[in-house]
Amino acid sequence: MPAKIRRFEKTYDPATGGYRGRLRSKPDFGSVEIEVGRLWYAMVMLLRPVRVLETGTYWGYSTSMIAAGLRDLGQDGIVTSIDPAESSHLWEGTALARHVRWICARSQDAAPTLKGTTFDMLVLDSDHHYRTIMEELIAFEPLLKPGGVILMHDTLFFDGVGAAVRQLRENPRFEVVTLDSPRTHGNPGWRSPGVTICRKLKRKGGALRFDESLADLFVGDPKMPALARRGKRAVNTMPASRHSETRAAPQSKG
Ligand SMILES: C[S@@+](CC[C@H](N)C(=O)[O-])C[C@H]1O[C@@H](n2cnc3c(N)ncnc32)[C@H](O)[C@@H]1O
Repeated sequence: MPAKIRRFEKTYDPATGGYRGRLRSKPDFGSVEIEVGRLWYAMVMLLRPVRVLETGTYWGYSTSMIAAGLRDLGQDGIVTSIDPAESSHLWEGTALARHVRWICARSQDAAPTLKGTTFDMLVLDSDHHYRTIMEELIAFEPLLKPGGVILMHDTLFFDGVGAAVRQLRENPRFEVVTLDSPRTHGNPGWRSPGVTICRKLKRKGGALRFDESLADLFVGDPKMPALARRGKRAVNTMPASRHSETRAAPQSKG
């Protein structure tokens, strides 16, 4: 891994799952946990995608982990990452840069420019409102090849994303698994961000539909079990005692 990425990883604080730039500075929760970054790298190595589409670049930690997998596969793979926020990115000035294409735009605005492109993997981690994640799924899922995988972060903490996961789970075109991730925000009672791995089984047989009644859903009620784990076909449920400890939502970007 390039030294720049290793230096960034050294700022990781396992006690909270955030990154501390300076000693005693408040942790930043914008990037995925190191363990999730490693999982994204492992998923790339396992599934061997050539074209990956990511939404939500931030400082480019997850992008760099995906790019490192693409580099190690030796197939000239590219991760296209979309984010409207100007930032200095971790891959810049490293050997990973040739595997990254960054689009400075909202994912919804970039969608028309990607029409006709196909992807082997989608990694969705931008704004966590139901509206945004569903707009992304409706725009980008048709570009994903059958057999391709959608990786999502924050599917347990943010019910906006959890509602989208529930729709994927209830759709026969997808198989879905949701797992906890290690971030605690310093409060083990809070929901973890969570990751979801969703495999697209086939192209036809049930379009994803936007549910207007959920449009503004974001965190939801943090005292309730994560929405992604509720519903008649809920799987991977956690013990009730864990949920009853849940407290107010932290101010978190991810
Ligand atoms: C949780 S951070 C992404 C973290 C990144 N995946 C990582 O682990 O390093 C969310 C990012 O989504 C971006 N964002 C917000 N709305 C967006 C949109 N509509 N399209 C694309 N990116 C968006 C924000 O600017 C922010 O940088």
